[in-house]
Amino acid sequence: MKGVIFTHLQEMVETQMGFSVWDDVIEACELGSEGIFVSTFLYPDEELFAIVGALSEKAAIPAEDLVEAFGFYLFPKLHESIPVSVFAPGSMWEMLDGLDSIIHMEVRKLDKHAETPRITVKSSTDNEKVLEYRSDKKLCRLAIGMLKSAAEVFHEKLSISMPVCMHDGHDCCELVVTRDA
Ligand code: HEM
Repeated sequence: MKGVIFTHLQEMVETQMGFSVWDDVIEACELGSEGIFVSTFLYPDEELFAIVGALSEKAAIPAEDLVEAFGFYLFPKLHESIPVSVFAPGSMWEMLDGLDSIIHMEVRKLDKHAETPRITVKSSTDNEKVLEYRSDKKLCRLAIGMLKSAAEVFHEKLSISMPVCMHDGHDCCELVVTRDA
């Protein structure tokens, strides 16, 4: 996982929960990186999972809820980092159509070691998109948090559900994004 994900997680924890919470969690995890993350470097996924696990225990918040809250925090930070010359979607639907083929593709072009998920559009109407999420990291709740946050950024009222999930043994998750009437 890229360091930029860790640096944003650190920023979220420090600003929303306090500097000492982050320091305690890093100390408890005994990470190879020692909690020093450089945004362009890659770090083992296990470090992210260890931090989330320790944070979940410390704050008494279920790990999946923390991951979703982090996704909500993360989207605007990543979104504003895309150069307008690369992609400047004017709507949520346009952004989702380019998520795999433009946004994550660009991330992989800039860093051949980057490991983005595959999030492809399975079906689409004016009011509903069904996305398929595939990743060994199984961070579908991160995706849900990011989608909810993107709805705010694009001023859309949306409902998001996940009728099919890899955590229940399926080979991918289905994320259904519905425009509220
Ligand atoms: C709603 C829109 C988006 C969704 C649902 C989404 C979903 C995700 C998820 C779930 C991951 C974690 C890795 C995994 O599951 O395998 C991820 C990683 C990543 N995404 Fe996205 N993403 C979105 C938009 C963006 C945007 C706008 C950028 C801007 C550049 C971006 C850049 C990245 C990067 C850099 C990583 C880390 C890759 C790595 O660790 O190697 N994503 N994305």
